[in-house]
Amino acid sequence: MKNIVILISGRGSNMQAIVDARIPGARIAAVVSNRPDAAGLAWATERGVETAVLDHKGFDSREAFDVALAQTIDRYAPDLVVLAGFMRILTPGFTAHYSGRLINIHPSLLPAFPGLHTHQRAINEGCLIAGCTVHLVTAELDHGPTLAQGVVRVLPGDTENTLAARVLTLEHVLYPRVVSWFADGRIRIAADGSANLEAVAVAERLL
Ligand code: GAR
Repeated sequence: MKNIVILISGRGSNMQAIVDARIPGARIAAVVSNRPDAAGLAWATERGVETAVLDHKGFDSREAFDVALAQTIDRYAPDLVVLAGFMRILTPGFTAHYSGRLINIHPSLLPAFPGLHTHQRAINEGCLIAGCTVHLVTAELDHGPTLAQGVVRVLPGDTENTLAARVLTLEHVLYPRVVSWFADGRIRIAADGSANLEAVAVAERLL
């Protein structure tokens, strides 16, 4: 059984999709938020999932927060740490500590559009496709080896909101699937931090 810790900052719909997927071999050990008012916390508590809050506002530096965050996470002995709308830039010390077992979902086809406002930027650039990327987290924001991508068409008349909604639906399919690949050992991380590509091929067939 693999212990999974999910980090959120808000709504937590990706966290909900992962919990609801009831992935064989994966135990959601805890949901951790940096914001006490994150809506996803109440949802997790209602379903009997353990939660923890570590408010970043109580720390003088990013480094101090990340050290305390790692201590909180490590109480649950995670095999995998899942960033699900966790809107904090992480320090190199934190990403190194979880090297090979820290994943993120980002609402664009990375390396296009790292950062914020991804959907509006895709529309502004005239992209015909958009999507989401699940990747291993490294020290560089929204970078790291790609594990899977999901693709949607950008439709005529799409707004930031309509495109975001379609991509989010896909996120809710893709992210639990990648977590399940970790749980059943299909994704393996090499000593140099690279991931085997078997999982990406599976994503291309399924999506
Ligand atoms: C999701 O769309 C996720 O891809 C994005 O935040 C949203 C969180 O929604 N993450 C990022 O932009 C990370 N760079 P959720 O809280 O409902 O899962």
